[in-house]
Amino acid sequence: MKTVFSLSDLRTARLSFKGTVGLVATMGYLHEGHLSLIRQAKMDCEHVIVTIFVNPTQFGPNEDLSNYPRDMEHDLSLISPLGVDMVWNPSPEIMYPPGYQTWVQVEAITRPLEGALRPGHFKGVATVVTKLFNATQPDKAYFGQKDAQQAAVIRQMTRDLNYPIEIVVCPTVRESDGLAMSSRNNYLEGADRKAATILFRALSAAKEIYEAGERNAEKLRGKMKEVLESEPRAQPQYVSCADYDTLEEMAVIKGKALLSMAVFFGQTRLIDNFVLG
Ligand code: PAJ
Repeated sequence: MKTVFSLSDLRTARLSFKGTVGLVATMGYLHEGHLSLIRQAKMDCEHVIVTIFVNPTQFGPNEDLSNYPRDMEHDLSLISPLGVDMVWNPSPEIMYPPGYQTWVQVEAITRPLEGALRPGHFKGVATVVTKLFNATQPDKAYFGQKDAQQAAVIRQMTRDLNYPIEIVVCPTVRESDGLAMSSRNNYLEGADRKAATILFRALSAAKEIYEAGERNAEKLRGKMKEVLESEPRAQPQYVSCADYDTLEEMAVIKGKALLSMAVFFGQTRLIDNFVLG
């Protein structure tokens, strides 16, 4: 496994790959969720590139950029048994040199949910993913359902910009108690870690009434809120039952729906979602 830093080393190594290339883009501090994407890429593609880059432009001014957890050595030890061809770990100066001024802005699909609460977040994500696609030229790129809106934004952007790249969205990997794996779970201490299972329990309760035939979206949102309110440590930011494709809130569920939520535990913000239908 080759680890490269500069753009020219990445390009030279990329040129030596013959056959299909899979890309797994990450911000590091890897866990089983990331590794599941790498394993899927390894099954599908002849070569796999993993990128590790904590992208500053997708963090808001009051978000956790400076505290975002990092452990390159541990990340490489997790990746190396998986048969990855190359890890690219560019510096912020390589991705955004002085004078940088080009951005990728996806429109409607970035406005609701995370986009409404994290202004500029998806502009940063779309821009860095564009740059990662251009640099690594993958045939397939792997993203997690855990970040449902991110996956939808990247799918839209790939279509709109005519990238010949297949976007593969992989299921959310969870801890045994249902908590979706996230690098940010590391911030949760004691009682908050235990309380954080409330996201999974709220989503499961809404799914249960959906499976019993409920199609009134407000009833599903109400069920999720009711469960979240039973946990005093949880401070919900939003609870949504939206159209799977447009991410617009629904009144009556028709076709595929996305149940999603963002919940604070102290300073730590967690998101999770289920797909219905
Ligand atoms: P990061 O949070 O490191 O996540 C990298 C990839 O792992 C994303 O596609 C994310 O959806 C996926 N992932 C995270 N937790 C997961 C879980 N529990 N199960 C399955 N997949 C999971 O998402 C980003 O980085 C960045 O925004 C990035 C796309 C790299 C652009 O900077």
